[in-house]
Amino acid sequence: MSSLAGKTIALAVTGSIAAYKAVEVARLCIKAGAKVLPLMTTSAQRFVGPVTLAGITGEPVATDMWDPSFPGEMHVSLAARADVIVIVPATADLLARLAQGRADDLVTATVLCARGPVLAAPAMHPRMWEHPATRKNVAELAAQGRVRLIGPVVGAVASGESGMGRMEEPAGIFEAIVRSCTGTGTGTFTGKSGDLDGKRIVVTAGPTHEAIDPVRYLGNRSSGRMGFAIAGRAAARGAKVTLVAGPVSLPTPSGVARIDVESAEQMQRALDDVMGADLAKADVLVMAAAVADFRAAQASATKIKKEAGAAVPAIALAKNPDILAAIGAKRSGKRPVLVGFALETGDDALVLAYAKAKLAAKKVDFVVANAAHESLGHSTTRVAIVSSDGASAFSVGSKDDVADRILAEIGARLA
Ligand code: CTP
Repeated sequence: MSSLAGKTIALAVTGSIAAYKAVEVARLCIKAGAKVLPLMTTSAQRFVGPVTLAGITGEPVATDMWDPSFPGEMHVSLAARADVIVIVPATADLLARLAQGRADDLVTATVLCARGPVLAAPAMHPRMWEHPATRKNVAELAAQGRVRLIGPVVGAVASGESGMGRMEEPAGIFEAIVRSCTGTGTGTFTGKSGDLDGKRIVVTAGPTHEAIDPVRYLGNRSSGRMGFAIAGRAAARGAKVTLVAGPVSLPTPSGVARIDVESAEQMQRALDDVMGADLAKADVLVMAAAVADFRAAQASATKIKKEAGAAVPAIALAKNPDILAAIGAKRSGKRPVLVGFALETGDDALVLAYAKAKLAAKKVDFVVANAAHESLGHSTTRVAIVSSDGASAFSVGSKDDVADRILAEIGARLA
C-alpha cells in the first residue's frame, strides 16, 4: 500500500480522550508511504505521550512555537512542508478557535498558514457537539471552506453515553487523508451555510448487496460518494440529515446520522422507520442509492458448493421493491420533496429521455440524470436536472459542487 508515497502529512493532536487514536492514524499514513510531522497542543500531551508519536513517526514532535532551538518560524515551516494538515482529534475548543481564525498556539497558527487542505476529526460529548456555539462554529468553518471535517459519528463516547460526537475511526480518517491527497473531495465548500436550517433530509447512498448465499451477493459498482456528498453538504447547510447507506467504506460526513444497510429490503425498512409510514417525519428524500432491481429469489442458507460433475447452478431472480416509486405513489401533496437519480448508459439525449420517464413513473419532483461512464467511481460527475419544467443543461463538477447544486434546487422547493 503506497497511496501516500511522497506525501507529507502534518498530524496535529489536541486534548481529548480520543487522542490515542491519532497514533493509529500516524501508523496508517506511514504504512501508506507518507512522512508524518507530529504536532501537539499542551493538553494533548496529557492524553498521549510525545514519545509515542515520535517513535511511530521517526520525527520530532513539535509542541512549542517558541522553541529557541528551532531555526525560523515553526508554524510557517510546518505549514510549508505539509501537503495536508489533519487534526486528530479536534476538540470543541479547537473548532471554536479555528472558526475565529486564532493563532494562539502552534496548531492553530500552523492551520492559519496552511497551503493545502486541512482536515479535522471532531471528538466531544454529544451535548458539546449539539451546543449552539459549536453548531455556529461548524457552520462558520463550512462557510469559510478552508477546514473540512471528518465525522463526528454517532456512537459511544468516553462518558459511556452515546450520541453524535464520537470521533470517526482511524481507518475512515486515513481514507479522507488519501482522498484529499489524491485530489478527490478537496473542493472548497461553495453552498450557503444555514439555508436548510432544521430541515429533515433523508439521503440514501451506495449500492445494495443482495445475498445469494452467506458468502456471495449480487451488487453494483456504486461507490456511494454522490450520496455522501449530498448528506455532508446538507448538514453543513444546517439540515438534520439521516444517511441510509448501502455497503460502502466511506467515512460518515460531519454531523450526519448514519444507518447502514445491506439489501434493498433493509433499505426500504430503514426508510419506513426514518420517514414514518405517512412520510411525515421527513421534509426531503434524496434517493442517490443504486438500489439493486433484482435479488436471488431464494438465498441459500449455506454456501453453494461446486460439486464435481454437478450442473452449474442457476440463480432464479425476484424483483426488488421499487422503493422510490412506492414512496412517490404514497405521497399526497408536496412533502416530502422527492429526488431521484437516473444513472444511464447512452448519449445525452437518451440519458435525458430515461430520466424524464423516471420523473413520471416515480412521481418525484426532479431527477438528477447522469451517464454511468462519467460518474461511477469518479470524483467528478456531469449531470442535468430534469423536472416538470424541463431539463437543465448538463454541467460538470466535483461531487460536492453537484451536491450543492441539487441542494439549491431542493431549497427552492422548500421555500
Ligand atoms: N430506485 C429505487 N428502488 C429500486 C430501484 C431504483 O428506489 N428498486 C431509485 C433509485 O435510488 C434512483 C431511481 O429509483 O433514485 C432510479 O433508479 P434506476 O436504477 O436508474 O432506475 P430503475 O427504476 O431501476 O430503472 P432501470 O434500472 O430499468 O433503468
